[in-house]
Amino acid sequence: MRLKNKVAIITGAGTGIGEAIAHKFAREGARLVLSGLPADPVPDVADAITKAGGRAAIHLGDVAEDSQAQACVALAIHTFGSLDILVSNAGIFIANAATEDYRIEDFDRTVRNNIRTAFLMTKFALPHLQTSRGNIIFTGSEAGLNGSPRFTPYGGSKGFLHAFMKGVALEQAPHGVRANCVCPGAIDTAWTRGADSPIDPAEQAGIDAMVPLGRRGTPEEIANIFAFLASDEASYVTGALWLADGGVTPAKSDIGARLPAELRRPPHGALTLTHSHDGLRGKDVYRAPG
Ligand SMILES: NC(=O)c1ccc[n+]([C@@H]2O[C@H](COP(=O)([O-])OP(=O)(O)OC[C@H]3O[C@@H](n4cnc5c(N)ncnc54)[C@H](O)[C@@H]3O)[C@@H](O)[C@H]2O)c1
Repeated sequence: MRLKNKVAIITGAGTGIGEAIAHKFAREGARLVLSGLPADPVPDVADAITKAGGRAAIHLGDVAEDSQAQACVALAIHTFGSLDILVSNAGIFIANAATEDYRIEDFDRTVRNNIRTAFLMTKFALPHLQTSRGNIIFTGSEAGLNGSPRFTPYGGSKGFLHAFMKGVALEQAPHGVRANCVCPGAIDTAWTRGADSPIDPAEQAGIDAMVPLGRRGTPEEIANIFAFLASDEASYVTGALWLADGGVTPAKSDIGARLPAELRRPPHGALTLTHSHDGLRGKDVYRAPG
């Protein structure tokens, strides 16, 4: 119970990594505000948590809108009286095209949903986090460090978050507020597997071979890092980029492809997740030819 009685907002909590963070935080004793777009299965996740004895309020709205980001923070204060943790995890990955073919509307959507969401949520959460001496964790990306061909605006949006987080960490240290970033590599959600993914199905099959650990990460493996960083166990960690990419960043070859199958199997995990691959359902995903 590392987060007992802490109040946490998790954005993008209906699917994928956010769903796993929600379940993990609930198990660690946190009281939650789960936020997602109106069509996201956030009520379903909240329901599962409530049935298991946890507490989860629901915010449905686009947190790239000032009023919705403000309403999300207000819901936490109204429901639980305080705010200890902001998990700024909402994001999109909706286009696959060389930069010269990348549609301007997809660039704008990426900036809006990956950057504006994080800025607004941070802005409105900070006064409350200063009171509680709380912390913020952003979901960055390996792509924010290394760049990502055919997904250049996506990688750029995550690079923004990394630098934004460091600035916030330095600026807010005098208020006792920590800020960190988890930077996943390829995780097994709708983004890297299935018909909704912008990654071509033939290329999806090759992802694991590029990873020295021989496989995608699970949402639960990422949620475990969030739980640590959010907790008082991480009291000396701020301004950190926590890479969790199976070794992709320092990799120099297709080490993963050479691993025995037994070492490429993901762990069983303890969380029951039902929306790992629902994050792109109904969204306009663009895959340019070639
Ligand atoms: N899956 C990966 O391989 C991977 C790798 C690195 C980083 N990440 C990061 O992890 C986070 C979660 O990704 P995921 O793979 O779980 O995908 P996902 O699509 O399952 O989850 C993202 C969620 O955010 C929600 N969302 C998007 N824009 C929103 C907005 N404006 N307001 C409210 N909710 C919004 C989506 O509807 C979705 O439910 C993202 O920030 C992503 O950049 C994912």
